[in-house]
Amino acid sequence: MKIHNFSAGPSILTQEVLLKASEAVLDYNNDGLSLLEISHRSKAFVDIMEKARSLALELLGLEGKGYKALFLQGGASTQFLMVALNLLEKKAAYLNTGTWSDKAIKEAKMHDDIIEVASSKDAGYSYIPKGYEIPSDYDYFHCTSNNTIFGTQMKAFPDSPIPVACDMSSDIFSRSLDFTKFDLIYAGAQKNMGPAGTTLVVVKEDVLGKVSRKIPSMMDYKVHISKGSMFNTPPVFPIYTSMLTLEWLKNLGGIKAIEEINEMKARVMYSEIDLNPLFKGYANKEDRSNMNATFTLVNEDLKETFETMLKEAGISGLNGHRSVGGYRASMYNALPLDSVKALVEVMSELETKA
Ligand SMILES: Cc1ncc(COP(=O)(O)O)c(C=O)c1O
Repeated sequence: MKIHNFSAGPSILTQEVLLKASEAVLDYNNDGLSLLEISHRSKAFVDIMEKARSLALELLGLEGKGYKALFLQGGASTQFLMVALNLLEKKAAYLNTGTWSDKAIKEAKMHDDIIEVASSKDAGYSYIPKGYEIPSDYDYFHCTSNNTIFGTQMKAFPDSPIPVACDMSSDIFSRSLDFTKFDLIYAGAQKNMGPAGTTLVVVKEDVLGKVSRKIPSMMDYKVHISKGSMFNTPPVFPIYTSMLTLEWLKNLGGIKAIEEINEMKARVMYSEIDLNPLFKGYANKEDRSNMNATFTLVNEDLKETFETMLKEAGISGLNGHRSVGGYRASMYNALPLDSVKALVEVMSELETKA
């Protein structure tokens, strides 16, 4: 039976990517060696790293614009700290739109003065604050483009008088944006790129080198840039798999092409949530995420029946985050429209049964 994988992360990868990645584990390029047992300094791997880095910039439209792409370790959570260590001299401004923003703020606060320009914490992070001001005398502004847990997504980004750092872990490469508006973008691989284990960082070089603190080498973007993202042994398999996904996306037509598909999936999903009286969406309508749709059952008595039906239809990974409950349909780039249709079918079948 086909499994429809709505997992929030680690999450679905395309079959094409999984096949190529698994072949490389057994025998990379028919050389008789696994990708996992060759040196990261070998030409074979250096080529993979360079291709992954340049595909990331190309897909974001940032080639030749002063940006560098890095594939680092420690997850997006390490970036909460690294951003502050590299950009924060005196004070920084953060937008608090969810658990991950909150965690980023906590790490930055360890170092200096942080203000929250706005927060939606008081309403369970069910919306994206708007109309706030970003002070021009702060070092940088930090935001989270997509709030994986609550299912909200920033549809517009403020014009910022200061550099912008953005956590795009759960919607990178999913929609067209003017990426030149951002000075630093980071994203854990395990949603729209590959397996867990590497984090993409795209940074404009001219925002670096402005803080007076000594930065430990592993935490210093400039060190990683100077070593071609190979300061230490990189996680070769997650990087190779991410490269395959970026290649797949390029062949599909890039971000514009996937954006259309993602919009279609979101339309199908949200119209069922809105039309079916058994379900209720969690996030504010105008801020709804095209990646993570969060919703609950109006009548909890139907929970068991609904979940049995989901299981029978091969629908997996739909549980909401433990802090929100209910359901969360994660519709990342690799999830086909057919999977969304299968879920919607179960939801409307429940309505006829109830
Ligand atoms: C938006 C966002 N930021 C950060 C993280 C943390 O990522 P990691 O587990 O790679 O540290 C997550 C994880 O789901 C996330 O969704």
